Amino acid sequence: MSNLMRGVLVVDLGAQYAQLIARRVRQAGSWCEIAPPRTALETARRMDLAGIILSGGPASVYADDAPEVPPELLGLGVPVLGICYGMQWMMRELGGDVVAADKREFGRAAIDVARSEHLFAGIEGSSTVWMSHGDQVASLPDGFSTYASTDTCALAAVGDPTRGFFGIQYHPEVTHTERGFDMLTNFVRGVCELPGDWQSGDIAEREIEKTRELVGEDGDVVLGLSGGVDSSVAAVIINKAIGDRLHCIFVDNGLLRKGERQVVEDVFAEHFKMDLTVVDAADRFLAKLAGVTDPEKKRKVIGNEFVEVFREEAKRFKDAKFLGQGTLYPDVIESVNVHGGNTAVIKSHHNVGGLPEDLEMELVEPLRELFKDEVRRIGRHLGLDSVVIDRQPFPGPGLGVRILGEVTPERCRILREADAITTDEIEAAGEQKGLWQYFAVLLPIKSVGVMGDARTYEDACAIRVVESEDGMTADWGHLSHKTLQRISNRIINEVRGINRVVLDISSKPPATIEWE
Ligand code: XMP
Repeated sequence: MSNLMRGVLVVDLGAQYAQLIARRVRQAGSWCEIAPPRTALETARRMDLAGIILSGGPASVYADDAPEVPPELLGLGVPVLGICYGMQWMMRELGGDVVAADKREFGRAAIDVARSEHLFAGIEGSSTVWMSHGDQVASLPDGFSTYASTDTCALAAVGDPTRGFFGIQYHPEVTHTERGFDMLTNFVRGVCELPGDWQSGDIAEREIEKTRELVGEDGDVVLGLSGGVDSSVAAVIINKAIGDRLHCIFVDNGLLRKGERQVVEDVFAEHFKMDLTVVDAADRFLAKLAGVTDPEKKRKVIGNEFVEVFREEAKRFKDAKFLGQGTLYPDVIESVNVHGGNTAVIKSHHNVGGLPEDLEMELVEPLRELFKDEVRRIGRHLGLDSVVIDRQPFPGPGLGVRILGEVTPERCRILREADAITTDEIEAAGEQKGLWQYFAVLLPIKSVGVMGDARTYEDACAIRVVESEDGMTADWGHLSHKTLQRISNRIINEVRGINRVVLDISSKPPATIEWE
């Protein structure tokens, strides 16, 4: 589908910001795709291309491992915006000079706009930008002039409006750059002349149509519904395309939060009238988990068992040749690691829906071109309830990785109750706004307490509350003392088996969000 849509190509030169650039371009109402330098030219030729953005990157243009950008990208007859490394590469390629700056510039700086047009239409005077660079451009290629400068960087923004080539030394995609979104909007709408009318809601209708074409008149699809946002929105799209030829399978692994299974039944079977099979597999999972305390082993046991259960259930739908999945764009973009090397495995993530290839089914992935925030918008557009759309991320292995030590039916009951109280109190106080996740963790520690006149010797639980943009880094979040007090009182009074509540005040890194 994307080859039919006119849009911008973001070339990922190893910046952690490439996805952010792409999201901002879409927020500006224009379609865009991301590609690494290796496949950039091929992608550019496949798209109905209106412009190119070269992202920043960690490398110096003089470094041995500097990403090699195909120079042909500058000859496709479309405007090009180079950001940071992307700018330096473009300036050098076109005949300018790039030198190492006297000192590295990192953080806030103020630009003064000299030419309030093109990229800077409607932007005048001084404004804050966010810099992160060592090298900088020292002389400009023919046809270029200066649009903005800072005290330490005379050529902070440059351009050749005839060719539609622009370069900026700072990062317009981060919110610290005050007018950054306006500059990107000026590029896609003003310079690339895109109409800015692309809506993620339009995509829903197109994906429904596309699914219908792919699956055909009589094909059937099975889909592992986890109740999370991605599989839920994928299910609604596929259901709208082919109705009851979509068969959803929800596996109750006994590690769900309180009320979770009910929500899935209410929303999908009752409201959307989907064909939903709820598999009660709690006993199987808990039997396999008996005696397992190692976190990685637990994840593997849960992941493998999920695959087994799903495989057995899916067999019942003999006509189903398709497997529906809620794969998102960030999962399919080839990530660039300019310095090579392997990233250490911190935790093996077993997403529900992470199924083996030997199922031999063709994939139906209606979300594979979308970011999470767009998926949420589409979900709302299609009438999905906020209990599904706005829910917190929940790991595939569920409470299994929040019960430290052995996972037993009794310990699941204890954590489920403590977690429900934690969630209810935070939401009742309206303190969930701005939080990424908030939940309870059952610790493998017993401690002495006193209740009434009796000594107790029971479990401790921790409250984990974090703020995060994407789950990759996180800060511990703040709750009011009153809410903390209510959570602690209620858990100790209402949950038999817990006599102590502690608060986790660790950021990620060095901690992780989940405890296992
Ligand atoms: P960590 O604990 O690695 O978690 O800081 C980062 C984010 O990922 C979620 N998470 C998972 N999500 N399957 C998932 O789908 C998993 O196995 C898994 N483990 C962690 C976690 O809740 C947090 O939002």
